[in-house]
Formats: sequence, C-alpha cells, structure tokens
Amino acid sequence: MPRHVCPPWVGYLLLNPLRKWLENPVRLLGPFVRPGMTVLEPGCAMGYFTLPLARMVGPEGRVVATDIQAAMLDRLRRRAARANLADRIECRLTGADDLGADDLEGQVDFAAVIHVVHEVPDAGRFLGNLLRALRPGGRALVVEPKGHVAEADFEATREAAHTAGFAVQEFDLARRCMALLRP
Ligand SMILES: C[S@@+](CC[C@H](N)C(=O)[O-])C[C@H]1O[C@@H](n2cnc3c(N)ncnc32)[C@H](O)[C@@H]1O
Repeated sequence: MPRHVCPPWVGYLLLNPLRKWLENPVRLLGPFVRPGMTVLEPGCAMGYFTLPLARMVGPEGRVVATDIQAAMLDRLRRRAARANLADRIECRLTGADDLGADDLEGQVDFAAVIHVVHEVPDAGRFLGNLLRALRPGGRALVVEPKGHVAEADFEATREAAHTAGFAVQEFDLARRCMALLRP
C-alpha cells in the first residue's frame, strides 16, 4: 500500500536546531556508535542525524545514508561538504522497496532507523534486508514518532522485526516508540 512520504519542505523543518531539546543526536545515538564503525542510516532526509553520526564514527568510519528523494540527499551533500564531513558520508538514492545496502551484507555495525519505518511500504521486507546488512553483533535502533505512529502500528513493526529474525528489545516506550534490534 502506498504510504505518505515526508516531503522536502518537512525535511527543512527536521533540521530545526530546537529539535535537539527533544531528540539530541549524541544522547540518542552516542551509546551505540564508536569511532571506526560502519553506520547505515536509511531515510536520512537532509541529515539531522547524519552529520552527528559522521562525527561519532570519526575519520576511520563511514556513514551510508540512504533516501528515496534526491532533493533530501542533495541538501545533505551540501551540508556534509560545508561541515568537512563529505569524505565519511556516502549518500545513496534508493527505491522504496530497496534498502540500497546489498553490497554491505554482514558489514554494518549499527543502523539508525529513525522516523522512517512508517513510510516504508513493506516493513517486513525492509527489516529482512536490514538484518542481512548487519554484522553479527551489530545493532539497529528503530525510533518512530510517538503520536504520529499509533502504538498498535509500532507493535506491528516490532512484530515484523521479530518475524524477520531480530531479537527485539523495547525501551523508553513511555516517552518514545523505540526498539533496539539485534540479529
Ligand atoms: C520523517 S523523515 C525522517 C528523516 C530523518 N531520519 C530524521 O529523523 O530527521 C523520513 C525520510 O525517510 C525517507 N523514506 C521514506 N521511505 C523510504 C524508504 N523506503 N527507504 C529510504 N528512505 C525512505 C523519506 O524520503 C524521508 O526523507
């Protein structure tokens, strides 16, 4: 079924610095990311999380940032260049049913899947592809916008992750729809 996809003008709103009060990238993702890691970020939009992730992985690491909208990635590329982080961020334009990470099979240390699963047409397929991309011991953090995504829909996402083969650890459900997935 076609899903509503966040338009580019919302991509600009997502870069609002005030967002840091609610979703601080370092507080949210810092516990999972170490220098030298390969990080996958599907649905990166204009890179609110991508630039902080690139700083966290450092010069030896890389962030593969994917999106289905070229306008999002164009803006991200410009922001990455301005921040001198372009050499560790790879932007990939993907299709809605394609994670765009076939070449990364078993290589991804951490995936940041933030506010995107509810826009994906086939969450089961998406999560199955994500599982293949992660290395053994890798982890994926799935966050969905609470309120915008009903609890029953997030429960369906957790169920789809479980069916895909992930061990699903939920946490902070009172404040966020958030789950940590492990192969
Ligand atoms: C609500 S935005 C969230 C962006 C970013 N993760 C953040 O939190 O700032 C969702 C993004 O996911 C992208 N998207 C939607 N479906 C996708 C898919 N199947 N694969 C990759 N990206 C997708 C949209 O184009 C949009 O840029």
